[in-house]
Amino acid sequence: MTASYPATRLRRTRATSWSRALHRETVLTPADLIWPLFVTSGRGVAEPITSLPGVSRWSIDGIAARAKEAVALGIPCVALFPHTPADRRSADGAEALNPDNLMCQAIRAIRDACGSDVGVLTDVALDPYTSHGQDGLVDDAGYVLNDDTVAVLVDQAINQADAGADIIAPSDMMDGRIRAIRLALEMGGHTQVQIMSYAAKYASAFYGPFREAVGSGGLLKGDKKTYQMDPANGDEALREVAMDIAEGADSVMVKPGLPYLDIVARVKARFDVPVFAYQVSGEYAMIEAAVAAGAGERDALVLETLMAFKRAGCSGVLTYHAALAARLLAG
Ligand code: PBG
Repeated sequence: MTASYPATRLRRTRATSWSRALHRETVLTPADLIWPLFVTSGRGVAEPITSLPGVSRWSIDGIAARAKEAVALGIPCVALFPHTPADRRSADGAEALNPDNLMCQAIRAIRDACGSDVGVLTDVALDPYTSHGQDGLVDDAGYVLNDDTVAVLVDQAINQADAGADIIAPSDMMDGRIRAIRLALEMGGHTQVQIMSYAAKYASAFYGPFREAVGSGGLLKGDKKTYQMDPANGDEALREVAMDIAEGADSVMVKPGLPYLDIVARVKARFDVPVFAYQVSGEYAMIEAAVAAGAGERDALVLETLMAFKRAGCSGVLTYHAALAARLLAG
């Protein structure tokens, strides 16, 4: 209920900076950010990623340095993605289970550098390790097999937890994987390891730069529409979230981000569970392209989009702009 003009002039509270601060409904802080990092082989390596200007793949030493930077900036958590060398990729993605793979090395290096000052979130899915670029095991027709894949994902999750991961984040969209992973974590003594489920992950055109970053883009034939969600569907996202909560997820994710804020808001309204969103690689690239074209100002675009996630109900956001945003928020 609002009185009519002129008793109500909504511009009154907007007139000064102090008043805008006083009436601000949503806050954004570095503690709302999760910083995705790409891991590569070697030492002292920083490889720029063409389609993600400003983002690099780091060798293990660089990953440890980024984690320290996150701590200094007040960013509570980093998310790791490996660029697996071509000769370590295979049809079954077995490198995902190697206790010395890039992910496990990176987890241990962060632990050595930062102790428990920063959370380490690890992606569970086979696409960074498979020769065909799909997230799971495929049959002769190229169909991604659900239950066979879940069995491997469980081993991948345990491999990451054994190396010291804090949050297991399954991004594969197989049915039933949260229950299977939760059970294995409990049985394996990893009772404190969280699961952040990519619950509503869409078959999106916004993942292109990420696939270049992990080296699966050129390998992928076809698409991921038999497991990732149809962008046309909203009710189905609520069913995905409900199932993942019932199976033991501690928090859920919506992905991509900005084009799916309606899903964030619906999930938040329906469930009492922390909701995160992933501002994905294509969204990052769009902002950078706008900046390069002189169509917008980077700092303002970044902070406005991140605030939008918070307003929609997110507990936090995965964003490649995390370090920049944290610096801006620190003033
Ligand atoms: C892998 C995975 C993808 C992303 C995160 N985990 C790509 C995909 O599903 O094809 C995308 C992240 C981004 O675009 O920034 N399962």
